[in-house]
Amino acid sequence: MMEYFAVAGGRPLQGRVTIHGAKNSALPILAATLLADGESVIHNCPALTDCAAALEILTCLGCRVGREGSTVTVDTSCRRGHTIPDELMGRMRASVLFLGALLAREGMAVACWPGGCALGARPIDLHIRAFQALGAQVRSWSGQLYFEGPRLQGREVALPIPSVGATENAMLAACGAQGVTVIRNPAREPEIVDLQGFLRCLGAKVSGAGTEEIVVEGGRRLHPGEYAVMADRIVTATYLCAVAAAGGEGELLGAQGAHVRPVLSALAAAGCEAGECAGGLWVRRTGELRGIGSLTTGPYPAFPTDAQPLLTAVLAGARGKSRITETIFDHRFRYVQGLCAMGGCIQVRGDTAAVTGRPLRGARVEATDLRGGAALTVAALGAQGESAIFGLEHIDRGYEALDRDLTALGGGVFRRREQTCGMPGVGI
Ligand code: EPZ
Repeated sequence: MMEYFAVAGGRPLQGRVTIHGAKNSALPILAATLLADGESVIHNCPALTDCAAALEILTCLGCRVGREGSTVTVDTSCRRGHTIPDELMGRMRASVLFLGALLAREGMAVACWPGGCALGARPIDLHIRAFQALGAQVRSWSGQLYFEGPRLQGREVALPIPSVGATENAMLAACGAQGVTVIRNPAREPEIVDLQGFLRCLGAKVSGAGTEEIVVEGGRRLHPGEYAVMADRIVTATYLCAVAAAGGEGELLGAQGAHVRPVLSALAAAGCEAGECAGGLWVRRTGELRGIGSLTTGPYPAFPTDAQPLLTAVLAGARGKSRITETIFDHRFRYVQGLCAMGGCIQVRGDTAAVTGRPLRGARVEATDLRGGAALTVAALGAQGESAIFGLEHIDRGYEALDRDLTALGGGVFRRREQTCGMPGVGI
């Protein structure tokens, strides 16, 4: 039994959707609940398979977890152990974010090497170097990583590249280090600022998130807290691109314009209009989509790598040429195969995709990763005719219900099951 999205493309959107909480903010915040004994309450925590995996890790570590709608509770009073189960490390790379919190609380953390994924190697050398800078010892033995740091000391942690995960792990471990830690060249994403907000509500002394230096005064006894996760800026980008691809207009409630400025600029260049409205953003595309020339992804506040597939899906159906260069991940154009199956004219050479826009047609395609799958769905909304998007297990990792939300925006996206097994060939 294969689940897929049936998409009726080629008609303009008209609707309103609420943006759910940010996956990439909720995951480090759930890990950070380990830093305090007692029950923390996390609001606007998205109901995603990745968040379910994070709650499974907390349960394996002896915590009691609960969910009512988008509010999650984590009671760490009976916390025990310091090992992340191999199955969960393999299922979700972000499980690595629990290492910093375990080191801070237990002085010890054990996990298998996280696998790579569809985006490329995904090493964790910067996480390891950050822990070592704080005084932890790291050993690798028969596929397991052993981190020991019973007496972490506040130090300077200089990141050679602004890694999001390494920044978050350094912040979490630094909360358990005696003295002051200064993280230089940290990631500056809004999710880092959200993590700082949660740590502060636990009583931690953290400052500088979003700037070129984060300072953590560690060694404080922290208490449980209550916090609301920010809106997901990549989900926001997804729905902006959906309206751009299909045409029409939409309202995105809860969206924060400041978090998606590069995406709004790129879509304006392609012929869209957008602005702030009461409680969110509006977006409209009534004229023809056009190519935007060259665009390069980069660390925040540059154009986000996670929105790269989504914008390429829009440009594939535009009139004119565009060149998209990916600088963060070395393997992030696999979804292009699906766009070409829809009639897209895209050539990938190394880190750059050369797009010659043309009208797209419906096809049967398969997602290879989370944002690639969302990109194929966005392209299908702008394509003429019916499409089938397989590989929903990837999409469900980052979207509560992409079909529900795109339907709320006026799109025809329906979750279906197909009797045959295996991805069927092209052609409806
Ligand atoms: C986070 O991944 C996000 N995931 C990713 O979102 C996002 O694409 C990425 O940041 C970049 O913004 C979560 O927050 C859970 P990085 P992360 O460390 O932390 C290299 C999605 O779609 N690197 O900033 O893993 C790495 O290979 C996901 O929601 C090292 O070399 O990203 C990459 O080339 C996909 N060594 C670059 O740095 C390390 O130790 C940036 O990675 C760590 C990273």
